[in-house]
Amino acid sequence: MKGLFVTGTGTDIGKTYVSAAIARYLRKKDLNLAYYKAAVSGAKSVKTSDAGFVHDSADLLQDENTLLSYLYQRPLSPHLAARLENRFASMEKIKEAFGSLKQCYDYVLSEGAGGIICPVVYEDNKKIMYEDIIKELNLPCVVVADAGLGTINHTVLTVFYLKEHGIKVQGVILNNFEPGNIMHEDNLVMVEKITQNKVIAVVYKNSMELVMRYKNMEDYFDECK
Ligand SMILES: Nc1ncnc2c1ncn2[C@@H]1O[C@H](COP(=O)(O)OP(=O)(O)O)[C@@H](O)[C@H]1O
Ligand SMILES: [Mg+2]
Repeated sequence: MKGLFVTGTGTDIGKTYVSAAIARYLRKKDLNLAYYKAAVSGAKSVKTSDAGFVHDSADLLQDENTLLSYLYQRPLSPHLAARLENRFASMEKIKEAFGSLKQCYDYVLSEGAGGIICPVVYEDNKKIMYEDIIKELNLPCVVVADAGLGTINHTVLTVFYLKEHGIKVQGVILNNFEPGNIMHEDNLVMVEKITQNKVIAVVYKNSMELVMRYKNMEDYFDECK
């Protein structure tokens, strides 16, 4: 099984939208793809969560009960929502849920919450950061970033942090990209130059399609051991 983790430069940057674009791209090629989000907050149900959005946008065949492990209703960082709802994530349960998907699918696309520094459990006796989940699941990352002003700083910080922490970065996807926009085009070049990673695709506003720049999307999924 191959997997990829979609992180981003922050919340509301388009991780879910771009995940849906990736999922649609792979589904069009009839690839057997699953989506998985370990913990989601700010959703009333699976259907109305990020997971439901990707599932419906890409017509995934996956059972909705396997899309995520922890759903918190409050629109807060997962660690705070978990504390207030008194329901804490377990790494064992996350590994088990991901492991089951691994057995049934060729690809698992996993999405993070917020940016790369996101506490999932942060109690005195137990701490889980989202990056611990990425490492446990042994997934390489793509970083979703907005194409506009400020993205050089946000993207480079995120990519450097991931690499510093031993997480493989497959590349960056710039969202809300406008071809011909001099700033967007320059941001793309600068991100590539400073990070030494490729902007593997861009996504335009209101178009849930990946515009690939180098290779096929499936080439960025790595074998999960
Ligand atoms: N390329 C895009 N075109 C149109 N709407 C977008 C695009 N990218 C993101 N959005 C919208 O912006 C909002 C935040 O995006 P979302 O993917 O949920 O962010 P994240 O998962 O990073 O929190 C959502 O309403 C989403 O539909
Ligand atoms: Mg999201």
